[in-house]
Amino acid sequence: MTQSFKLQESQISPKSYTRGDWQRGYESLPQEFDYWIDDIEGQIPPELQGTLFRNGPGLLDINGQSIHHPFDGDGMISRITFINGRAHFRNCFVQTEGYLAEQKAGKILYRGVFGTQKPGGWLANIFDFKFKSIANTNVIYWGDKLLALWEAAEPYRLDPYTLETLAKEYFDGVLSPGDGFGAHPRLDPSCEQDGGAPCLVNFSIKPGLSTTITIFELNPTGQVVRKYAHIFPGFCFIHDFVITSNYCIFFQNPVTFNPIPVALGIRAAGECIKFQTNQPTRIIVIPRTPKTEPTQVKILETESGFVFHHINAYEVKDEVVIDSICYQSLPQVEPESDFRQVDFEAGSPGQLWRFNLNLQDGVVQRKLIESRCCEFPSIHPANVGRSYRYMYIGAAHAETGNAPLQALLKIDLESGTRQLWSAAPGGFIGEPIFVSRPGSVTEDDGWVLALVYDATHHRSDVVILDASDFSQGAIARLHLKHHIPYGLHGNFTSEVFVGNS
Ligand code: CO
Repeated sequence: MTQSFKLQESQISPKSYTRGDWQRGYESLPQEFDYWIDDIEGQIPPELQGTLFRNGPGLLDINGQSIHHPFDGDGMISRITFINGRAHFRNCFVQTEGYLAEQKAGKILYRGVFGTQKPGGWLANIFDFKFKSIANTNVIYWGDKLLALWEAAEPYRLDPYTLETLAKEYFDGVLSPGDGFGAHPRLDPSCEQDGGAPCLVNFSIKPGLSTTITIFELNPTGQVVRKYAHIFPGFCFIHDFVITSNYCIFFQNPVTFNPIPVALGIRAAGECIKFQTNQPTRIIVIPRTPKTEPTQVKILETESGFVFHHINAYEVKDEVVIDSICYQSLPQVEPESDFRQVDFEAGSPGQLWRFNLNLQDGVVQRKLIESRCCEFPSIHPANVGRSYRYMYIGAAHAETGNAPLQALLKIDLESGTRQLWSAAPGGFIGEPIFVSRPGSVTEDDGWVLALVYDATHHRSDVVILDASDFSQGAIARLHLKHHIPYGLHGNFTSEVFVGNS
């Protein structure tokens, strides 16, 4: 495998992909499937038991009318169940009101946050704030509930066996209709306040001239056991956060928001967010207790940059260490542009930085850990909020420049060594998920699971790597009967869900 990888590298120089290949991964998948995967290279490890849930836009058009940005695409859940060395696939659209209404009408009825406008120009869109809740960003199984998440609205609860949409989830009235609930919950494997029981921490953002951040902590039965909120000056565009034992930490990216073109119907919300290169990034550190006084919340500053995703954070005495993927700036979503025509080389790559926050004197130091273009990190779930050694992340095939993700990179933060597995030139990769081997004692004893779009066959593969050793290549490649449009986030649970099929 290492040899064939070397061979590939010499064949595909200088560019590891073609834009045409990449584009086809953004074709809609309107069909829903339900089958046992029987086209497999290699072997599924029999100890790998459980269910991988993934979410992402399943439709990039409504009856031929193109949506403007993949972030506006209707949420489609893919489920891959591993049991006794076999694997089962099922996918299903989240039956949001918007999805049902648009499928019935056969046309776009809603404005999207990232630029999809109803046909008819600004007159059809003026003062229309009825954005479609699309439930397309993440999916998590927690407290016996399968929840499809989209940060600007309440979650949708699905049946994990059939993937049927059941209802919107309000957590016994903790959320109200229309409330946001973040798409990046963090699972504290051992919460000090709960006597070492695991707890799920999530947040919601109410943006405006000032911004309210509300934090929710849920126990293993899915009840909200702590809820606390703080108000901060300025507009916040916050997609992700990190936790430690004692803190929730948010990066307030230096952006401004101009609501007027949105109200007038000539721009979508996502097009009116402007990155401010001369402004610092603010780091908001909130103690994880509802009794916190506003004075106990710390705001630190660091160099300008844009962060969508963090990897992890942990405390060392009075210091907090945070690892994040940073961009030099936020690419503007342009109204006249087509995302399929993106010029990768013109963009700035996401790069891995480590931030050291001194909570005593407020000084932030940062250093570049990995300059290769990378996104979608994953770590051992037992190390969330704790010091850790290994991360797995989607990466570009080439060491320098901005490019689509085609490879999986394992980074050993202790020794500094890297391992790369590449699917170039025809393969494009989504978020990897690390799954530990049952009974494992070392941090990288387990598997890395990822969906790879194979442009040559216009289908997607579920790829399984041995997390301790990428050099042996994929230990199994499960060929699906179709492609899955590039997705966003997902989670693995050791629970096994297979419907009646
Ligand atoms: Co995300």
